[in-house]
Amino acid sequence: MTLLNNKQPLAHEVVEDSNPTDNIDFQTIISRRLNRRSILKGGTGLTAAAFFGALPLVGCSDDDDDSSPIKNTDNNAAIPAQGDLKRPETLKFTAVAHSTAETMSVAAGYKAEMILPLGTPLISGIDDWKDNREQSAESFEWRMGDNHDGMWFFGKNGGAYDAKASDNGLLVMNHEYVNSNELSPFGYYVTQDDNAAPIFKNRRLASDVRREVNCHGVAVVEMKRRSDGMGYEMVTDSKYNRRLTSSSTAQLTGPVAGSDLVKTKFDPTGFQTRGINNNCGAGLSPWGTYLTTEENFLGVFARGQDASQLSDGQNYGRERYGATEDFPGWEYLWHTPEAKDAKIADEFSRWDMTAVGTSAADDYRNGFNTFGYITEIDPFDQNSMPQKRTALGRFAHENCAYAPVEQGKPVVFYMGDDARGEYIYKFVSKATWSNSDIGGGLKAGDKYLNDGTLYVAIFNEDGSGEWKALVHSQNGLDASNTVLPFNGQDEVLVFARAAADVVGATKMDRPEWVSVSPMTGEVYVTLTNNKYRGVREDQPVSASNPRSYQAGEKAAGNDNGHIIRWAEAGGDHAAMSFEWDIYLFATPYDLTAENLSQLNDSNDLSSPDGLYFDPRGVLWIQTDDGAYTDTSSCMLLAALPGKVSDGTAITTSAGQQTRVGMPASNDNIKRFFVGPEGCEVTGITMAPDFKTLFINIQHPGNTWGAIAGGSTPRSATVMITREDGDVILAESFV
Ligand code: FEO
Ligand code: CA
Ligand code: CA
Repeated sequence: MTLLNNKQPLAHEVVEDSNPTDNIDFQTIISRRLNRRSILKGGTGLTAAAFFGALPLVGCSDDDDDSSPIKNTDNNAAIPAQGDLKRPETLKFTAVAHSTAETMSVAAGYKAEMILPLGTPLISGIDDWKDNREQSAESFEWRMGDNHDGMWFFGKNGGAYDAKASDNGLLVMNHEYVNSNELSPFGYYVTQDDNAAPIFKNRRLASDVRREVNCHGVAVVEMKRRSDGMGYEMVTDSKYNRRLTSSSTAQLTGPVAGSDLVKTKFDPTGFQTRGINNNCGAGLSPWGTYLTTEENFLGVFARGQDASQLSDGQNYGRERYGATEDFPGWEYLWHTPEAKDAKIADEFSRWDMTAVGTSAADDYRNGFNTFGYITEIDPFDQNSMPQKRTALGRFAHENCAYAPVEQGKPVVFYMGDDARGEYIYKFVSKATWSNSDIGGGLKAGDKYLNDGTLYVAIFNEDGSGEWKALVHSQNGLDASNTVLPFNGQDEVLVFARAAADVVGATKMDRPEWVSVSPMTGEVYVTLTNNKYRGVREDQPVSASNPRSYQAGEKAAGNDNGHIIRWAEAGGDHAAMSFEWDIYLFATPYDLTAENLSQLNDSNDLSSPDGLYFDPRGVLWIQTDDGAYTDTSSCMLLAALPGKVSDGTAITTSAGQQTRVGMPASNDNIKRFFVGPEGCEVTGITMAPDFKTLFINIQHPGNTWGAIAGGSTPRSATVMITREDGDVILAESFV
């Protein structure tokens, strides 16, 4: 999410930065300084062999080489795959040029169509969207929400999940946040009593806040293939069509359910909360449910002066998630509408975490703790409640990707915490996988997601990595911790960031999406950017976050981002160690000193964010950029990655040694789509037959309005098909 010139800053555009720790051991800092000094003297410091120790460094792979170590493991029973469809050997389409146009552009031979914009009714009997911004708040419980983000297409056969069904499916997507100025008559303002010109009074209208609350969350939309066989259309009035919003009741499950930390006036027993919020990237479970995420939930809460009523640990726990005592909330001000009665007062006061009552049952001091979870939704059960899976930890969840499942082995999920200097996690289930659970809905979720171990990643300087368990009474996570005493696993999970601090996790450059290659089993994570990297003392460059661009007077840190990847030891996703390298450095291609992946004008990019391996092993990369948008709007690229260690050791312009994957070429990464000016390209899924690719266009620029119908530049889904109706990126297609 990026600040746009034509919009005022919103909560989603504020990148949180609440990691005060110095999670680098002293010896590492010393050796890094020595290393940098030797480079400044003209040497390269350590040799590649010394730097990466015993890790194998192999030459660039050749796609035509039959001895390629990449093999299709074909062990992912739950991924919808079409058997004989293989990953193309090279990318044959013509790259889409840089563009800052008002419209989107897609590779020649393909068609891109906008569907399901903000406000689209999911049922009949509701007027279509109008630009007058006066549609009732309640009507948005049955309309597409705002800022479409992560999504998944669930093949449907009859009434059940069928991973290979393409004629009919449920498209499930996140609505991450709202652009208040485009959604409500008065945006952030309230009118004076005489209806004179709106003035900003730090107090919002109840109807405006309700509309915004209802524009967040998740949409479930039944889609059927169009009669011409190309693409899909919505099934209006389908019994599956549904919205879950920031006012829907959700269940807390796992170790935090019932904890004192989540008891509120709404549910003094601590098992339920109201709302899912700031749902960002998405995930699929191997059994066929939707895993939504809660990312920048901080933005809808406010906190007043109440530190004297909290323990030091409680106070630290809040601050570690950005909610300091003088935190005024970001601009949403959902806690501010005037209350005519107690019910309305409760509707809005729940967004204020200030401790005002005598106990947690009297106020919403713990409301904040009930957000920040991977949340499971069964799109096939329209009466089911979202399940907040607390065992996977509480942080600014970006998305959630599962590793290929194997019968009798634990199920493993990878996740990133998108804030500057935050961490990468994985969850290993206690229960072992059984293919019989496919289609098992939330019961399967109870089995795999409520009990297991959460780990956080340490990326060592030598290219090795390790996982540290966040388990109460292990690794110093107990009541003796002076910063935040951990009295139980509930506290470890609610304050997962603080627990990860204790075990020495590696601060990363804003971990966004995670995806696992179905070919190699290697895990890829976008590190979108970090303006503080190498700029602030607490975030020095490291091998895993090695760039800090400082042209002239400008200290931009890691302005353009990179994609890191790793291979778990022995190919076992439950392993405790891994080997990593940097798959790709994003940069404008002509920024020579930063162009460490040898990008050119057909494949350069900035701020990678969305990331999706399709079941053939094609990697799709989406951008959410503000650094290169004078040259090109945000984009979607297709890539054919190799594997860890297929490149070389390098030294960045910041003097940091690291290791980069094989160079980019027009054969292995190419720009496929460029969005309209001002947008973020995000959320990606494919129909199981590979003939339709869905992406989302979030917060497009003002000129997009006419395209979407009306004058408001509405977020929307874009459906991409091949003009001849064949498979996207089919091997035969030139
Ligand atoms: Fe919602 Fe980090 O993107
Ligand atoms: Ca982003
Ligand atoms: Ca994102």
